[in-house]
Amino acid sequence: MTTLVTDNCRRCRFTDCVTVCPVACFHGDEEMLYIDPEVCIDCSACVPVCPVHAIFEEKDLPEDQRHWIAINAERAPLLPVIDDKQEPLPTAEARKAELGY
Ligand code: F3S
Repeated sequence: MTTLVTDNCRRCRFTDCVTVCPVACFHGDEEMLYIDPEVCIDCSACVPVCPVHAIFEEKDLPEDQRHWIAINAERAPLLPVIDDKQEPLPTAEARKAELGY
C-alpha cells in the first residue's frame, strides 16, 4: 500500500504536502508531484493538507483513478525530490476554483 498523487495536482502544485512528509517521498516535474511508493511509509499525513484533494491512500483511490498507481511509481524515481514548500503554479488558484475548492 502507498499514497498517491492524482490529477488534481496538475496545474496546481501547491506543495503543502511536502512540508508534512517525514520521509521526502515527493518528486516533481513542472506540472505536478508524484509519490515514490518505495519511500512512502503510508503515514497519510499529506492527505488532508492538499487544498485540492489530490492525494489518496491507495485503499481510498476511486476506481477511475487507479492508473495513478503506475504513474506515481514510474515518474517519481525519474524526477528530483521536492521537500521544500514552493510557489504554487500561476494557474493554481484558477484550477482550484475550477475543481470546486
Ligand atoms: Fe499537489 Fe496538493 Fe501537493 S496540489 S503539490 S498534491 S499539496
